[in-house]
Amino acid sequence: MLVDKYGRTFNTLRVSLTNVCNLFCNYCTDQPATEKAVIHKSNVLYTNEYIKIIKGLHLKLNLETVRLTGGEPLLYKDISNLIEEIREIGIKKVKLTTNAVFLKEKAVSLKNAGLSSINVSLDSLDPESFFIISKRRNLKKILEGIDHALAIGIPVKLNTVVMKGMNTDQILPLLEFARERSISIRFLEVMKMGHLHNSYHELYFSREEILEKIGEQHQFIPMDREHGATATYWITDKKQVFGIIANESHPFCGDCNRLRLDSYGNIYGCLSNDNGISIKDHSDDPLKLEYSLKQALSQKQEIQFAGSVMSMRYIGG
Ligand code: 5AD
Repeated sequence: MLVDKYGRTFNTLRVSLTNVCNLFCNYCTDQPATEKAVIHKSNVLYTNEYIKIIKGLHLKLNLETVRLTGGEPLLYKDISNLIEEIREIGIKKVKLTTNAVFLKEKAVSLKNAGLSSINVSLDSLDPESFFIISKRRNLKKILEGIDHALAIGIPVKLNTVVMKGMNTDQILPLLEFARERSISIRFLEVMKMGHLHNSYHELYFSREEILEKIGEQHQFIPMDREHGATATYWITDKKQVFGIIANESHPFCGDCNRLRLDSYGNIYGCLSNDNGISIKDHSDDPLKLEYSLKQALSQKQEIQFAGSVMSMRYIGG
């Protein structure tokens, strides 16, 4: 079995289906919003290519979960087929991280394909700050998408990146939005990724500050953190559970079990390392694949998250 000196291995694979996104959120990009988000055929792997790679990885790693991400994974037209075929490999849980702009129209087909659950990135319930963050006016569609997915029985969790001067006033409304729907919400500290690599502190709002804000309206106590979990959870006196992913102030590298695959067939063992290792041409060669996986495992940081100049747009959250 592939294990490093800290006992870490890979049991969760995050697969980026494209680095294109239809939102232009300030933590992912500082480029101007373009008219239309289009995936160019030369820049993606086909479903059969993804399946070949995931099969090879599963043989070596006995993966528990595959999470599809992006860019925006719902821009990948063949996503439902892909989900079905990943399930056929024998991987039990296939999950999705999405901005939910296209969720309403895709939810039924995703569910029928066997999708286990969805994480929706939602940073604001206020149309104006949503627009300032994402450069798009899609909030209504997103909220309808969330409610539709819940109505047809797909579990949904929310992820909110909290940024100073942008959406700290949305923490309490989003918490209430989650409570009304009995869904889980996690607040994220902004990470030093992509163009924010050196300037993230301008937006940084710490776990302590998030707890302070929630404390204005709620009392809460901490819960035990699960092994390999990204978030730490608290429970309020109204029995609502919320989480915080505090990658900066409380990094969780020590038991990180994630492997990432980008939409060019490169793997990464760590978000802090942007040296992708191409396995596109040898994912069916066990010896060569094992060598690449060892390289990826050695990319993991000891404790502290160092960040990267690569935006999450390339390798998902
Ligand atoms: N810091 C924190 N979260 C980020 N995401 C993308 N970039 C960053 C960053 N620099 C999050 C998105 C989404 C997930 C895919 O990653 O909000 O929830």
